[in-house]
Amino acid sequence: MSALINYRAEHRLALIGLVHAPVNALGQALRRELLQALERANADPAVDAIIIHGEGLPFSAGADIHEFGTPRAVAAPHLRALLLRLQQLNKPVIAALSGVALGGGLELALACGYRIGEPTACFGLPEIKLGLIPGAGGTQRLPRLIGVQAALDMMISGQMINARHALELGLLDGLSKSAQSLLHEACAFAHELLERDAPAFPEPRWRFPGSGLPDDFFSQYRLAQQSRWQGQLAPQSVVKALEAACTLPLTDGLALEAELFKALEASSQSAALRHVFFAERNVGKLPGISADTPIRLIRKVAIIGAGTMGGGIAMCFANAGIPVALLELKAQALEHGLMQIRSHYQISVQRGKLTTAQMEQRMELLHGTLDYAEIGDADLVIEAVFESLPIKQQVFRTLDEVCKPGAILASNTSTLDIDAIASVTRRPGDVIGLHFFSPASVMRLLEVVRGRDTGADTLATMLAIAKRLGKVAVVSGVCFGFIGNRMLEPYSREAHRLLLEGASVAQIDRVLTDLGMAMGVLAMHDLAGIDVSYLIRESRRDVIGHDRSYCRIADVLFEQGRYGQKTARGFYLYEGRQRREDGELIPLAERIAHELGIVRRVISNEEVHDRCLFMLINEGIQLLDEGIAQRSSDIDLVWINGYGFAAWRGGPLHYAESLGLAHILERIRHYRDALGAYGQMWLQPAPLLERLVAAGHTRIETLTAKDI
Ligand code: CAA
Repeated sequence: MSALINYRAEHRLALIGLVHAPVNALGQALRRELLQALERANADPAVDAIIIHGEGLPFSAGADIHEFGTPRAVAAPHLRALLLRLQQLNKPVIAALSGVALGGGLELALACGYRIGEPTACFGLPEIKLGLIPGAGGTQRLPRLIGVQAALDMMISGQMINARHALELGLLDGLSKSAQSLLHEACAFAHELLERDAPAFPEPRWRFPGSGLPDDFFSQYRLAQQSRWQGQLAPQSVVKALEAACTLPLTDGLALEAELFKALEASSQSAALRHVFFAERNVGKLPGISADTPIRLIRKVAIIGAGTMGGGIAMCFANAGIPVALLELKAQALEHGLMQIRSHYQISVQRGKLTTAQMEQRMELLHGTLDYAEIGDADLVIEAVFESLPIKQQVFRTLDEVCKPGAILASNTSTLDIDAIASVTRRPGDVIGLHFFSPASVMRLLEVVRGRDTGADTLATMLAIAKRLGKVAVVSGVCFGFIGNRMLEPYSREAHRLLLEGASVAQIDRVLTDLGMAMGVLAMHDLAGIDVSYLIRESRRDVIGHDRSYCRIADVLFEQGRYGQKTARGFYLYEGRQRREDGELIPLAERIAHELGIVRRVISNEEVHDRCLFMLINEGIQLLDEGIAQRSSDIDLVWINGYGFAAWRGGPLHYAESLGLAHILERIRHYRDALGAYGQMWLQPAPLLERLVAAGHTRIETLTAKDI
């Protein structure tokens, strides 16, 4: 009796149906049962061909990611061994591929002699996103089937391809008419193979996968990608394994692949990326929200404000096929906003990412208006006007008047109090924060701010809509800056202060980019606008004013009109998008330090790292303690998807665990004591960090705000 497989033998065929919900992950139990089913079919003289299919489920999403790093991952039968055994069978094996065939699931299909897909199926080797390479023959079998270039593209991008593309590449032998007819057509195909006495394994299409490639193909490829890969191990291993597919016999290539896989599986990078995988799956699980929570229909959206943010948000909805009304107060601003959107789409067309027809379709979904009365029927309204509480409250008063009952009213504020915004309406249950990150149509992060009175259905509807937009939605409670910008504050503060104490702009940013940040914090302020951060500080002088050194250098840059990239001068000098160091920055820092009585000294890279990163981490831990963030992995997702923290480091709190919480606490205390009055003012360990260390905890990942 098999729990995870439905086995049927009929008309010379064994049908092996995988029924391991939800995605037929190839954990040990399924591997064992699959092997048993294959042996049974092999031993049955009435069976001449075998079909493996996902019965009512996707074919397979690959290895069971929960098993990595546990003994079950390598427990017999190992997937690699199972596939080698499959290849010894002298009966044709056909993979009938529905839904998805990913990772080890696709490798199972590649080990079969033949593959039939259904039209909506998708295929991919996403292991690189987990810091791995395909570890069950994929790196050796795929290039022999579709050639090195196409195999390399699939493995390096980790992206899925659709069934038609897979057929064109030769990954599939055929496509069924529909998902429903897949098994039936796979059976017909098997009978056809038997009738023509086809071999169990046809000759590989690419006997020599590297033939036709220039000799320096791999070295050139490595060179071109080097800076993008930084210290990441998995992409390097993919190339190594593919090189082996071109130069070694299959058996030797498989052995090398196994060795590379083993090393990656044990790496901290893969552990970090697996953490991110589960973080993304957990982020939507919230107290008070379940599958039964009602979801409101969102058929029409309105955006208030056609500036950069409003326009970008409008594009997100148009890209998802949802009609959007864009409202401005003045015709000129509206026209400008719509033109900006068109020009963004035109760039995508020029880059081949969009066809002209797609661009026009999206533009048709966008409708400009100057009249609030025209948005009265919108199901969701997102306000994206100037970041000022009185202005936003005025917009919400108007929305409360004009919007139909049941409409969700959202604010794109990045710092303001959602409860104060909701309080001016008669429907605070319908009010929520949707903090998009710029450029809104590109950035994956969406902070969803749950106000005191936000209804469960309002929240659930926004989580569902975020999924439709392809965003990672992280729920935050109400506080200044929510999760992301609240943590940005101490991270930035330390960088600014270190400039006065003796570090250089380039040094600070290099330490951070060496860690894997997409951008140094000072380059980031230049991009976001020094005028923007200045205005935020202006609104918070009551809480920062006691420190005269607080981001003082940025205040002076602002006073000098050096707003960053937009004025070609900020922390750096810019020519177009090229930036270089500004010789005047150090004298400026020296002058300010002198005025403030700060003694300049040589600052080590270690100090830059520790003060910037540990204060960022410390604030994240404080957010957990306050219940603003639900779980530490949510915080990691915010920083990975909104602020360019390296996913292969797992986000700031996963990184903190890898460094050791006790070490971080010790360093924070060290700088607090070493930096005199400044240290006492700002470098105070979060009480939760102290409690965790005192209790001997080394992990925060598993803790939720409720637990601690
Ligand atoms: N192992 C274990 N669990 C998995 C899984 C896997 N490979 N893939 C998905 N799941 C689980 C998810 O954790 C989730 O569980 P919960 O409901 O308990 O949270 C459930 O399946 C549904 O997943 P999603 O919420 O992601 O559903 P979706 O419909 O949005 O996406 C998917 C489905 C496209 C399969 C997506 O889950 C996915 O991309 N999975 C990862 C696939 C992958 O990376 N495979 C490679 C594994 S490594 C490997 O195979 C190595 C090798 O070479 C042997």
